Amino acid sequence: MKKFIIGNWKCNPKSLAQAKELLGSVKQEIKDIKDADKEIVICPPFVFLSELLSDFLNDKVQVSNIKFGAQNCFWAEGAFTGEISTSMLKDLEVEYVIIGHSERRQIFEETDEMVNKKIKAALEIGLKVILCIGETNGERKQGKTDDVLLQQLEVGLAGISLDNLLIAYEPIWAIGTGNACEPQDAEKVRLLIEQEIGENTPILYGGSVKSHNVAGYMKAGYDGVLVGGASLKVDEFVKIVKNS
Ligand code: PGA
Repeated sequence: MKKFIIGNWKCNPKSLAQAKELLGSVKQEIKDIKDADKEIVICPPFVFLSELLSDFLNDKVQVSNIKFGAQNCFWAEGAFTGEISTSMLKDLEVEYVIIGHSERRQIFEETDEMVNKKIKAALEIGLKVILCIGETNGERKQGKTDDVLLQQLEVGLAGISLDNLLIAYEPIWAIGTGNACEPQDAEKVRLLIEQEIGENTPILYGGSVKSHNVAGYMKAGYDGVLVGGASLKVDEFVKIVKNS
């Protein structure tokens, strides 16, 4: 199976000029990694996507293993102030969309039902979906990890066929904390997810992934990683790609 390295820039950087510089540097380094089995998906903020993509597609130096994703989407069009629809993303030639990131769930109160609607709309229009699931520290301490993840999968994926779907296991306590999940623990979760959804859907790990720990997740059988903070540091991100 292909390996996926997803760079989630979150609400960074501050300007289009900085976004162009970051993408330019990543592209410069990645173009020499001749590994057709690695797919690198850059997910910048919505406002930068259009310009970054058109620059990228029109550049004479083509880097075919870099793709683009959005960090969120909305399931409808019309009177929904501030939202971005799946057709708008498709029109920009965005290929992927992250849905159900824990920051969306926790800060913006997205429910599994909303996640389900978003996934349906995204798949229907031909986007590939990266569904994020994960437990809080409290849930983990109470031994509820498996139940929480299974519930997120069951409701999030209700009525959905698994084509064009990737699952990212992102324990919330590991995100942005430097306290990554131990690969042995992550492996148990990977097996649980695989048991639930089968072997054909790529499963990624996310949460404080760095160049020094990425190999552990690949050894634990993950098909790739979702990288937040480290995707903003060119050298570190490129090392993650190389070590994955
Ligand atoms: P992190 O973020 O790599 O900064 O922990 C991961 C994520 O939120 O997807």
